[in-house]
Amino acid sequence: MAVIMDGKRLAAEIKDKVKNEVKRLKESGIEVGLGLMLIGENPASKQYFSATLMACKNVGIIPYEFRLSEEVNLNEILNIINSVNHDERIHGLLILLPLPKRINARRVINSILPDKDVDGLGSLSVGRLAADESTFQLFRNKADEIINSYEPLITGFLPCTPFGVIRLLEYYNIPIKGKHVVVIGKSLTVGKPLSLMFLAKDATVTVCHKETYNLSFFTKQADIICSATGVAGLIKDDMIKEGAVVVDIGINVLSNGKIVGDVDFESVSKKASFITPVPGGVGPVTIAMLLKNTVRSAIRTEMMKSPCSM
Ligand SMILES: NC(=O)c1ccc[n+]([C@@H]2O[C@H](COP(=O)([O-])OP(=O)(O)OC[C@H]3O[C@@H](n4cnc5c(N)ncnc54)[C@H](OP(=O)(O)O)[C@@H]3O)[C@@H](O)[C@H]2O)c1
Repeated sequence: MAVIMDGKRLAAEIKDKVKNEVKRLKESGIEVGLGLMLIGENPASKQYFSATLMACKNVGIIPYEFRLSEEVNLNEILNIINSVNHDERIHGLLILLPLPKRINARRVINSILPDKDVDGLGSLSVGRLAADESTFQLFRNKADEIINSYEPLITGFLPCTPFGVIRLLEYYNIPIKGKHVVVIGKSLTVGKPLSLMFLAKDATVTVCHKETYNLSFFTKQADIICSATGVAGLIKDDMIKEGAVVVDIGINVLSNGKIVGDVDFESVSKKASFITPVPGGVGPVTIAMLLKNTVRSAIRTEMMKSPCSM
């Protein structure tokens, strides 16, 4: 039976550290702020919005809410982002995805200043990840050293979900270097950046997607499988090798209201060595990483303003 990777526990530990950091900053007169933009009524986005709002309040980050109707036009959205970009109180902006189809999501995301792109999905953040300019954060000790020494020049936020996956694997001391990782899904939010992070950590990476012929041919070879497709029950026990590590990123709401991942947990957990549950696996860590990125942004912003005061 696999070890169940407890995302809630890791998230609680990360949030505790964030809370202490927020408190420390507050004592120096700095309030950490995060903008949250929700457009329309997508139930999954609304749920993530509320969970993030609650998490902000719990750690002392001030949330700035922007709830916009489904009918909002691009110009209005860009104007709000522009004002957030120039608002010194707001250190990061999260825009809940997907956006209504008629709105060009890349245009919207790319209008967030890279310094406030705490969700790490803008083209500059993604490019920095691909160019290994921000991957220092994946190496924990190095990252702490850099942040603690107030290195102001290093920029770039890592996307929260894949960043959380790497943290979760590290938390359970699961080696990545030299391992064969199969990532299923190649979206800009999850699969693609996750595969770049595994490459940065010296894994051998195979990326599969909808057009991959014979998915199980690849998954059977994997030491670590990460699935982010949104297809319930896609990964079954006969598709993995004995002792594989299985990270389920998918979130699927069944017709009976139950939330499940992409992995058939019941059967796969008997064959895997480690597995993430859904819910309670990657999801909570994603929010914790967002808060962590926001605090990092606040520290950087304040350092840039007055390097001697921190
Ligand atoms: N836990 C979290 O914090 C978190 C965060 C974000 C997303 N999610 C969840 O993760 C899942 C993926 O999200 P996303 O934003 O990446 O979705 P997305 O943009 O729809 O991308 C889905 C990806 O899965 C691939 N795919 C779909 N069906 C497949 C199949 N049968 N076999 C192999 N590959 C398949 C698609 O391939 P093509 O590119 O070829 O179409 C695509 O690359 C969703 O369930 C979402 O709710 C969870």
